[in-house]
Amino acid sequence: MCKILAIESSCDETAAAVVIDGIIVKSNVIASQLEIHRRYGGVFPEVASRQHILAISTVIQDALIEARTGWNELDAVAVTYGPGLVGSLLVGVNAAKGIALALDIPLIGVNHLEGHLYSNWLKTDKTDPPPIKFPVLALIVSGGHTELVLVHNHGEYEILGRTIDDAAGEAFDKVARMLELGFPGGPAVQEAAKEGNPQAYDFPRAWLGNSFDFSFSGLKTAVLRVIQKYTKTNILQHPAMAAQAKVKPTIPIADIAASFQMAVVDVLVSKTKAAAEKYNVSEVLLAGGVSANALLRNKMMAACGRPVRAPSLILCTDNAAMIGAAAYWHFKVGHISGWDLDVVTNLELESK
Ligand SMILES: Nc1ncnc2c1ncn2[C@@H]1O[C@H](COP(=O)(O)OP(=O)(O)OP(=O)(O)O)[C@@H](O)[C@H]1O
Ligand SMILES: [Mg+2]
Repeated sequence: MCKILAIESSCDETAAAVVIDGIIVKSNVIASQLEIHRRYGGVFPEVASRQHILAISTVIQDALIEARTGWNELDAVAVTYGPGLVGSLLVGVNAAKGIALALDIPLIGVNHLEGHLYSNWLKTDKTDPPPIKFPVLALIVSGGHTELVLVHNHGEYEILGRTIDDAAGEAFDKVARMLELGFPGGPAVQEAAKEGNPQAYDFPRAWLGNSFDFSFSGLKTAVLRVIQKYTKTNILQHPAMAAQAKVKPTIPIADIAASFQMAVVDVLVSKTKAAAEKYNVSEVLLAGGVSANALLRNKMMAACGRPVRAPSLILCTDNAAMIGAAAYWHFKVGHISGWDLDVVTNLELESK
């Protein structure tokens, strides 16, 4: 049995978890800074790193207590070393180094995107899901990334496509800001869309030929143009200024949200389906914050003609259990980091 303490601090969640054999979550503690950043309409990097410093010791201790695990029972310490905000990443990496050094156990640096992908390996209830058989196709859709990845085996990745401008989650966040729905935008847009007609606006879909790349900035601008028709004011600004823009209550927020959401989901599903068929994968894995989106999950399951897996909702957005899941496979094949492990803010997903 391999018990890994995992730490995640790449953005605005301070998180720690104890994971057994890359599958069983013994604890998954997340201290979210959401309320602090909400007033800025996005993550304020300096504030985020300071909050991580304040929270990290307690979060790690809570993870061990919840898992009923003593320091001496740990086999390794895993930590996100990129991509993310430099000051935020540094807090987690230094905490992990200190613990690994003090306990004389291996330190495993994990790519945050690999963590999102491996959230699909975590067991979330008492039943055992069927094992994942390679090759699989993964759609990683988060606040900073939109990547379509062919996963040949553990740690063997082939990037088929990625966004050439905004990430899917970023588009949700920006449209939510335009509609004054708050931060983070994804859940707010999904909620607003429930009452709306997804056919009300024929927003553009960027197909980019036959490529598996994505683009969402044109869609974002199209949404802004529609809103401007109602407000005649550019409200793509700081929320405080948007509040002064006196948005007329006649804006059909639900219809815009529903039509926008449908446009994003249409493109994500069509490209994933095409790639799944082209590479004849055994199943499709969704990962990242946007994979919490109900329309995306439902449409993907209906379209792909093969099993579609997605993490439980709590494991879609940032957490440390997913870092522990990814770290396990590195641990098994001896991918151990040196004490010179440094943060890499623009780290890409690549095979080791
Ligand atoms: N139900 C939902 N529908 C659509 N988007 C959602 C939903 N829930 C969360 N999101 C989006 O997911 C994103 C957050 O996901 P995540 O925590 O994976 O991103 P991140 O860690 O900030 O970015 P990255 O993982 O790329 O570094 C936000 O953009 C948020 O709006
Ligand atoms: Mg993330």
